[in-house]
Amino acid sequence: MKQLRIMLEQINFTTKSILNKTNHFKPEIGIILGTGLGGLVKEINAEFVIPYEDIPNFAVSTVEGHSGKLIFGELGGKKVVAMQGRFHFYEGYTMLQIAFPVRVMKALGVHSLCVSNASGGMNPSFEIGEIMIINDHINLFPTNPLIGRNIPELGPRFPDMSEVYDKKMIASAIQIANKNGIKVSQGCYAGLTGPCFETPAEYRYLSRIGADAVGMSTVPEVIVAKHSGMKVFGISIITDLGAEGKIVEITHEEVQYVASLAEPKMSLIMKEVIQTM
Ligand code: HPA
Repeated sequence: MKQLRIMLEQINFTTKSILNKTNHFKPEIGIILGTGLGGLVKEINAEFVIPYEDIPNFAVSTVEGHSGKLIFGELGGKKVVAMQGRFHFYEGYTMLQIAFPVRVMKALGVHSLCVSNASGGMNPSFEIGEIMIINDHINLFPTNPLIGRNIPELGPRFPDMSEVYDKKMIASAIQIANKNGIKVSQGCYAGLTGPCFETPAEYRYLSRIGADAVGMSTVPEVIVAKHSGMKVFGISIITDLGAEGKIVEITHEEVQYVASLAEPKMSLIMKEVIQTM
């Protein structure tokens, strides 16, 4: 019981602190940007920027390429809040810490979450730099952010996961991509802890269980977003290949570089999807 109250108190305290710092700005759409994909932030007509270290109860992100700030402003005619830099399980954060910002977004009034990430592609048709619209996921983290006593104010004990990624938003993203001559595919994202990239046997396993892409993020935030009743839209940039015969050595720097090349196309799709919502 006590633990429950503490979590709700933390969400409320953080939400109030943010509202005070943003002159009661009420975002409707939340955005979480992945490795090398922070460029969309430049398109936001930013009204308030708060570094994570100034937000009570927020963790501080530690990975190179993830500068931690919350950006409030207008994008595609909508009021948005964007996390530039996210928290990862491999950094040592708990699932609760990783998903906490999503709970705060919900408390601020956010009804839809848009996420991006860099990922390895197992689907043999994928090329480096490919944009994959996420249409499902597999949680391969050893845990789940909803484990523990459920807080009914935040969502149901047993949330339905039959359609996590909003079909209308996927359709709209495909239409936008076609209109702009951007090649996109759809697929299933497997989220796991990292920080190791996968061995060839692991990529093979991930492919056989039905995943098209693999990465070290997204699933915790998306589970909490869905639990809270938000609509979810996600894009993966395929930064390296995990298909048989195409696996080569990779580094975080290469992942960042490839993501940054594909970023303008991803940002265009995300911005226009937000516009149509
Ligand atoms: N595996 C896991 N995470 C990743 C990868 C990968 O191949 N590429 C970018 N992020």
